[in-house]
Amino acid sequence: DKAGYKHFMAKEIAEQPTVLADALRAYLDGNTIVFPGTLPDFTKVDRLTMVACGTAFYACLTAKYWFEQLAQLPVEVDIASEFRYREPPITPRTVALFVSQSGETADTLAALRYCKGRADSIVSAVNVAESSIARESDVALPIHAGVEVGVASTKAFTCQLNTLLLMALHAAVARGVMTQDQLAEKLAHLRGLPGLFNIALERDAAMADAAHKIAEARDVLFLGRGLMYPLALEGALKLKEISYIHAEAYASGELKHGPIALIDKNVPVIVMAPRDALFEKTVSNMQEVMARGGKVCLVTDAKGAAEAGEDVWRTIILPTVDPVLSPLLYALPAQLIAYHAAIAKGTDVDQPRNLAKSVTVE
Ligand code: F6R
Repeated sequence: DKAGYKHFMAKEIAEQPTVLADALRAYLDGNTIVFPGTLPDFTKVDRLTMVACGTAFYACLTAKYWFEQLAQLPVEVDIASEFRYREPPITPRTVALFVSQSGETADTLAALRYCKGRADSIVSAVNVAESSIARESDVALPIHAGVEVGVASTKAFTCQLNTLLLMALHAAVARGVMTQDQLAEKLAHLRGLPGLFNIALERDAAMADAAHKIAEARDVLFLGRGLMYPLALEGALKLKEISYIHAEAYASGELKHGPIALIDKNVPVIVMAPRDALFEKTVSNMQEVMARGGKVCLVTDAKGAAEAGEDVWRTIILPTVDPVLSPLLYALPAQLIAYHAAIAKGTDVDQPRNLAKSVTVE
């Protein structure tokens, strides 16, 4: 049931404020994070290995920043199809974490089986609770996204991020690098996030306007730094999947190491950049793009918009958010730009060509 929306994808994007609020309610009891099952002892391990495919892989790449910065735990992230055949050494002091919406992705399941008996423990974050990946894990954490019908993952991505962030916060406190007060502060920000999601969704017209122009391009670049880099990758994947426009993402700092050669007036560059500690560096990357005639669509907050200068082609302004939580909020414009570009192209948004919702064969 599309609940009055034209597409499941539109409905699933729009329901993210409610879905996130529900997911938080399922995990939070006051300022205590309650997990269904016993998480590994994060004081006894020295590494986290995360494995997934597609959008779930980008959720893992995001979580690497969280586990490393908040919990001081070294993280390795890999694509399941690479991991399983590379057969990397896994020590008994490694937690292996698998992220999958369907819980049935063949490569992710094979990677999980490879880690059994090698890693300290097998943890998964899944949307389908009775899936193979959930069953074969020591602890399976539900992401609580509800049924996702659109082939392009949207609410499952933000719920994966939410679950991984809660796990990173738990690990940070367990490892003694975050105090209960600091945890309480982060949880307060998280509880405010559904409200910020609603404000972001109200900026739909600005996103549609930019997306209709972007839809005229053959190639699109996404740039981001830090936590915005994995999100840039996710934005490019979303755009490719449903609008069939060629899109690539780079860490902003990589621009001058090659991709800048692609820039001309026909290549829109979507820059994901809240006004954080790295913003000035991103502004200089944008100037390099604009000096070559490139059209920058900047997704930022009010402060960032004010500092970005007047040559920016399109600006999408999101509410200010705690920097740690920015990937969840900035996921919404990534999804909506792809959605509106696909609408402009007239593609089948919910059932893009050549794609299946669950990839149970290699
Ligand atoms: C992207 C998308 C895919 C999946 C990938 C993993 O929108 O839907 O990239 O994220 O196939 O699927 P799961 O999470 O079910 O393992």
